[in-house]
Amino acid sequence: STLLKMAQPIKVVVTGAAGQIAYSLLYQIAKGDVFGDKQPIILHLLDIPPMMGVLEGVVMELADCALPLIHGVVPTADPAVAFKDVEAAFLVGAMPRKQGMERKDLLSANVKIFKVQGQALDQHAKKTVKVLVVGNPANTNALVCSRYAPSIPRENFSAMTRLDQNRAQANIAARLGVNIADVKNVIIWGNHSSTQYPDVKHATVTKGGVSKNVYEAVNDEAFLKGDFVSTIQTRGAAVIAARKMSSAMSAAKAAGDHMKSIWQGTDSGEWVSMGVVSDGSYGVPADIVYSFPVTIKDKKWTIVQGLPIDDFARSKMDLTGKELLEEREEALAVCQD
Ligand code: NAD
Ligand code: LMR
Repeated sequence: STLLKMAQPIKVVVTGAAGQIAYSLLYQIAKGDVFGDKQPIILHLLDIPPMMGVLEGVVMELADCALPLIHGVVPTADPAVAFKDVEAAFLVGAMPRKQGMERKDLLSANVKIFKVQGQALDQHAKKTVKVLVVGNPANTNALVCSRYAPSIPRENFSAMTRLDQNRAQANIAARLGVNIADVKNVIIWGNHSSTQYPDVKHATVTKGGVSKNVYEAVNDEAFLKGDFVSTIQTRGAAVIAARKMSSAMSAAKAAGDHMKSIWQGTDSGEWVSMGVVSDGSYGVPADIVYSFPVTIKDKKWTIVQGLPIDDFARSKMDLTGKELLEEREEALAVCQD
């Protein structure tokens, strides 16, 4: 006999499981990239009835991946089954935008999905469940989801801006000719939309063993306040224009990164960005899901406090907050229909 005790499997749900993001995400989860390589998993896969055939194919492929951490796979079109006892939820299932649309154009089509899934989480999930909303408009969907799951703490809901963070980090690393790992503490403020504010004022880069502020290292304020910001804001649209489909590989990677940060915590001296229910920090309106820099310990996030905000940042942060207030009004009206 052995004294080593194998961890109990956790139940993890992925919605939109027959879609393109899930196709990349499931493998990352299943091989241990997110919850660790010692954590067995029972995967719950939710999609809509017409997609059950496709989902069956995904289940076949998961089996054929021969991954020892997978202790069960439950494909279903029933939210009550999908959300039963889950400890982590990736809410991916929603319509993606096409060329020429803004993400908020998806609001009326998608927000009701998050009402229904909030209710199902409320009834069936573990109260400790950590819910990551990826489906667009992600911030407002996360707000709606948490509103309809009143028995689950609001802090357990977050929206994905990690893809924007990764994009910003990659852009700076390429510009400076350094490795991606040498760029730290890039911030995404606000909405996962074209009003987001990618902020490198507090970011650092390490080159040849010396750590510098990104503003100092790039030494081109016009770029950092201009092209850099607009490139990150419109990167999703650029991928759609090129691929004719929205980002999937990078979105899945970011979703894995985001949940890994929640599950395993952030490294000391580092923060990550995610949409969380605002408590009014930095003068942001309360009760919208706004992306802030956070540190995470014991699966609980804390907004990084005390960063100096200049006038340029202030105006960008206010603009994206205003958009989120408008989205909230529209979403709550749609949910009452
Ligand atoms: P997709 O169309 O390939 O897949 C979506 C899947 O969701 C489909 O299989 C669909 O049947 C399913 N679905 C629809 N309604 C559902 C419901 N009520 N319950 C369960 N499943 C449902 O789309 P995709 O490319 O995987 O993108 C999914 C979403 O993620 C889109 O809204 C997209 O805009 C968004 N997205 C967000 C980010 C981000 O950074 N936050 C990045 C990329 C994509
Ligand atoms: C992205 O940022 O790539 C996604 O949100 C898809 C989109 O609509 O841009």
